[in-house]
Formats: sequence, structure tokens, C-alpha cells
Amino acid sequence: MSFRASDVVMTEKIDNSKINAAVRAAKEFIYDDFTVGIGTGSTVKYFIQALSELVNKDELDILCIPSSLESQIELAKVGLPTGSLIEESELDIYVDGADIITKDFVLIKGGGGALTMEKIMARASQEFIVIADHSKFPLELNSFPVPIEVLPQTINTIIKPIFDLGGDFKLRYGTGKIGPVISDNGNVIGDVHFKDAYDPRMMEKQLTLIPGVVENGIFPDDADRIIIGHSTSSDIVFTRSEKGES
Ligand code: A5P
Repeated sequence: MSFRASDVVMTEKIDNSKINAAVRAAKEFIYDDFTVGIGTGSTVKYFIQALSELVNKDELDILCIPSSLESQIELAKVGLPTGSLIEESELDIYVDGADIITKDFVLIKGGGGALTMEKIMARASQEFIVIADHSKFPLELNSFPVPIEVLPQTINTIIKPIFDLGGDFKLRYGTGKIGPVISDNGNVIGDVHFKDAYDPRMMEKQLTLIPGVVENGIFPDDADRIIIGHSTSSDIVFTRSEKGES
């Protein structure tokens, strides 16, 4: 494999963009005594790092609730205190990345396979802050397939109802294991590809009505604030004035 200097520069720019969004969320929106829901993904890893620096400087005392095993491990590595939704039914804030963000601030999430807990936590939180690098916004809704979590026994029965909605279901395969990607909940992760434009609010509901579909990665009206990182700065591109109203 050969590396081009321009590819290295591009990766550095994206990483700096992720860092700028993550650090801004940690410094401006996390307060002492907060119960903080922690999303999943590479941008969230930078957020965990930024939180641990603030906690180590005694600027914050917080409890973190991870949305995935991966984030639980990352939190343990830096020694941040963790709990679960079993003890904490409501979060002060939930911070997570996104795979794409449309110009209308609809999110597609679940590229990391943690969409079910991510949606539960986004909706159990007082405020949901999205952190993303500039390559994620704005993008067309159907430029990224919709991740879905399904019961393993239903991988064939869901194909036709999804097709009837205009989608093409594909099981997701990863590396390091033979077979489909298995979620933290023991289910199967797949992706639904849509050729044509669709209504995200309607599709979110229709997909979860199919027996066997546990959750899907369309987050139509969930974000309360969206921070987009650039290589040397960040922008808040969306702030919901009150829950339910933009
Ligand atoms: C995890 O399941 C996803 O929803 C992530 O939030 C999303 O994939 C963003 O990940 P990155 O921060 O790595 O781009």
C-alpha cells in the first residue's frame, strides 16, 4: 500500500476538525455534577479525552454513561467514573457523533453499530449535542444507508417489507470475525440502501414497525445542538431553542 502526502494532510485536517468539535462540546456544555451520556465513534473518543483532561484539572466532577462497550472501554482507560441507564434513567446531556447530517439537521447514525443505545440515550437526555467534522455536513439523506439492528432470526423475513418501503437490506460484514456484525445487544447489524429520496420521519416509524427490526439509525428531530469542527475552528450550526421546536 502506498501513502500520498495529500492523503496524510487530509486525514490530519479531519482529525483536527473532530478534535475542535469535541473540545468545544466538553468545555462549553458540560457542567459540574452532570450525568453525561457518551456516544460512540472516533469523534467521541476525542470528547472522552477532553473530558478526562477537564476532570484531571479538577474543573469537573461528572458521571459518564456509555452507549457502547467500545466507549465503556475508552472511559475505563482514562479512569472516568461510569454508570448505566439502570441506575440513571435521565441524562443531563448526551454527546455523540453522526454519520451524516442533512441541511435540515436530520442525522443518520449507526455506522459503528451502536444505534439502538444511541437512540435510547439521545431520547433519555435533557439535551443531545452532536459533534462532527465538516465532511459530515451538509449531505443528502440517501448518501448514506440507514443502519438497522435486527433480531438474527429475522434476516430473511425483513427483506420484503423493507423492499416495499423502497429499501434494499444488506447484512453488514466486518473484519476480525467470520459472519455478520453482531451488536452489543447480541443482534445483527445491517444497512438499508435507498435509491430514491424518502421522508425521514415517516421512514423512521415504518422501519421499526417491521417485526424483528429492533431500531434504525434515522434521527429526524433529535439533535438539540450541532457542532461542526473545522481544521482550526468550530461552528454551532444548529441550536434548538426549546425541545420540540427549532
Ligand atoms: C456509531 O454507531 C455512530 O452512530 C457514530 O456516531 C458515527 O458513526 C460517527 O462516528 P465517527 O465519529 O467515527 O465519524
